Amino acid sequence: MQRKKALRKELAKAGVKGFLITDPVNLRYITGFTGSSGFLIITLNKAMFVTDFRYQEQSKDEVKGFRIRIEREERSREIKKIVDEFAIKWLGFEARNISFEFYDNLLKRGIKLKPLTGIVNTLRAVKSADEISNITKAVRRAERAFTGLQPHIKEGKTEQFLSLKLGEFLRNEGCKKLPFEVIVASGSRSALPHAMPTNKTIKKGDFIVFDWGGEYCGYYSDMTRTVLVNGKNINKKKQLYHNVLEAQKRAIRAVRTGVKASVIDKAARNYIDNLGYGEDFGHGTGHGIGMAGHEEPFISWRSKDLIKDGMVFTVEPGIYLAGFGGVRIEDMVVAGRNGAEMLTGLPRQLKII
Ligand code: GLY
Ligand code: MN
Ligand code: MN
Repeated sequence: MQRKKALRKELAKAGVKGFLITDPVNLRYITGFTGSSGFLIITLNKAMFVTDFRYQEQSKDEVKGFRIRIEREERSREIKKIVDEFAIKWLGFEARNISFEFYDNLLKRGIKLKPLTGIVNTLRAVKSADEISNITKAVRRAERAFTGLQPHIKEGKTEQFLSLKLGEFLRNEGCKKLPFEVIVASGSRSALPHAMPTNKTIKKGDFIVFDWGGEYCGYYSDMTRTVLVNGKNINKKKQLYHNVLEAQKRAIRAVRTGVKASVIDKAARNYIDNLGYGEDFGHGTGHGIGMAGHEEPFISWRSKDLIKDGMVFTVEPGIYLAGFGGVRIEDMVVAGRNGAEMLTGLPRQLKII
């Protein structure tokens, strides 16, 4: 199994001889297990997957290439037994995932612990051809759903209605779960980057920000389109939209294997800064996406990530003017030596309805 081998290589590189995986998404990535409770202990030549009685049958179907054990006792005791069986001196664990209480329980069992971050996440950031195919299918579902929504986008409809309707189209496309609740934010509310839909109705001259994601085989997509409702004095709004679109194009052009993620962020940010809107673009330019809605690499000025071939991420600059409205345009790309390949394909020209 490719992922198991790649993980062992990472562990060897990090000098880790025993590793405990508890993060459910990382567990799914390495073992295929989709249940809610389980863990894996892996060394350079042994491995044991453990879950509870509820998942006895499911784990037999899903977890291939690992020994499976059903836990009968308190989890820290089960872990201690395996640590002893495998003669693990120091057990690496996922520092981002474990609660302080659980950490303390493990310590009390006499396990020597070594916090680690990013081991599996680093692997997950680079997608295989199969993963890119799943993500692309999630994108296509999301795009068909949004296309289906078009006749419903009009004055008088509420944000809540449009959000639920788009959610319904996504479900009808076959999405089993959504990465987040569909965001629909209109008028001055479009200046809230992560607004939840309300009962506000769509009015003349409103920006409407739609931010939604699809799913296929456990992989997600994420995109945003901002549309404008025709009305008086929309020239400043049109200009704002074109500014964000230009910023996004510059960031996409900066995508290439080997560049720092922060360089992609800066391509959008410098452009927006120079227009005088620097303070109105407070979030990062993008994030990786796959089995989780947000994952490595992070495309921001703070990021230390380096772009590799096959990384899939969003490019989503925005300008948010309090009391006036906001624009965000979000697309998904896969990085390659020759630049960005677009995964999303819906038109990006301003749509005025
Ligand atoms: N909807 C979440 C995001 O765009 O990151
Ligand atoms: Mn996003
Ligand atoms: Mn989004």
